[in-house]
Amino acid sequence: MARDAGTSAFDIPSVDPALMSEVLEGLSRPQKALPPKLFYDERGSRLFELICEQPEYYIPATETALLRAHAADLAAFCGPRCVVLEPGAGTAEKTPILLGALDQPAAYMPIEISETALDICVNNLASLMPGLRVHPVCADFTRPFGLPRIENAHWRRRVVFVPGSTIGNFEPLMARRLLAEWQALAGPHGALIIGVDLRKPRAILERAYDDEAGVTAAFNLNMLEHLNRDFGANFNLDGFAHRAIFNDELSRIEMHLVSKRPQRVRIGSRSFVFAAGETLHTENSYKYTPADFAELALSAGWGRRELWIDDGDLFSLQCFEAIG
Ligand code: AVI
Repeated sequence: MARDAGTSAFDIPSVDPALMSEVLEGLSRPQKALPPKLFYDERGSRLFELICEQPEYYIPATETALLRAHAADLAAFCGPRCVVLEPGAGTAEKTPILLGALDQPAAYMPIEISETALDICVNNLASLMPGLRVHPVCADFTRPFGLPRIENAHWRRRVVFVPGSTIGNFEPLMARRLLAEWQALAGPHGALIIGVDLRKPRAILERAYDDEAGVTAAFNLNMLEHLNRDFGANFNLDGFAHRAIFNDELSRIEMHLVSKRPQRVRIGSRSFVFAAGETLHTENSYKYTPADFAELALSAGWGRRELWIDDGDLFSLQCFEAIG
């Protein structure tokens, strides 16, 4: 029997079928949604770096200042000869502040899915800290992965370092699961140093995710361009607008793409209808009170030892130790 001549959504050779299923399943939900990992193609990664330079997006500057101000406290907390593990390290921009302050760090293990980012990270550290042992792990930290053995390093403690509010992009249940996995990774005397974005007035949050220069809007819309290029979709970018709203009840910033008019979008042989004003949900960024985050971490086996907050009450750097 002759096969259907139309291209199936699964027939695009370069696309991972599991990711394609995730896209099609997300677009089939009553509230259409796409996974935030689709932001980070080459252009998306560049746009994210630009977001980090926008004055409204307070996270990078505030966290960097906290790391610098508490570098000596961090070194005291970690102790000598620790191994630092960084899930989702990216290019590890802020990590040299921590590593440079530590007393004889035994090794650094960035865990990063993007080979390009991992290469940049390893090269940067090689030039900044030539004596440091770096053991890169190319893996998706949300899935099981193994750690390389460190020979003859006589390390004393494993410290998991998660800056940048990475934890905020996960639903609380998944965040708890990750915190528990990091506790297992760090082991019995392990520690966690984590950057956690704080709940704050709506206006500050909504501005941070909808900057004046339109960089976050371009970042959000780029997800559609990514789908057009790599997934055989035909989104009309002029037909969608960026929206960032704070969902007070769930304590999260939500990013959406709003359909400006009724329209139909095709991906391979599948098509999806958008009503005017209907939204496509692209990202959540959870914001915590210090008490709520301590409770979440405690439920994953971490006891809080340090909490540092900037003078503007924008962002926190928190240190935990494994308990029980
Ligand atoms: C990567 N992550 C912590 C950012 C955040 O703030 O949730 C992603 C982002 N989305 C828009 N602006 C920044």
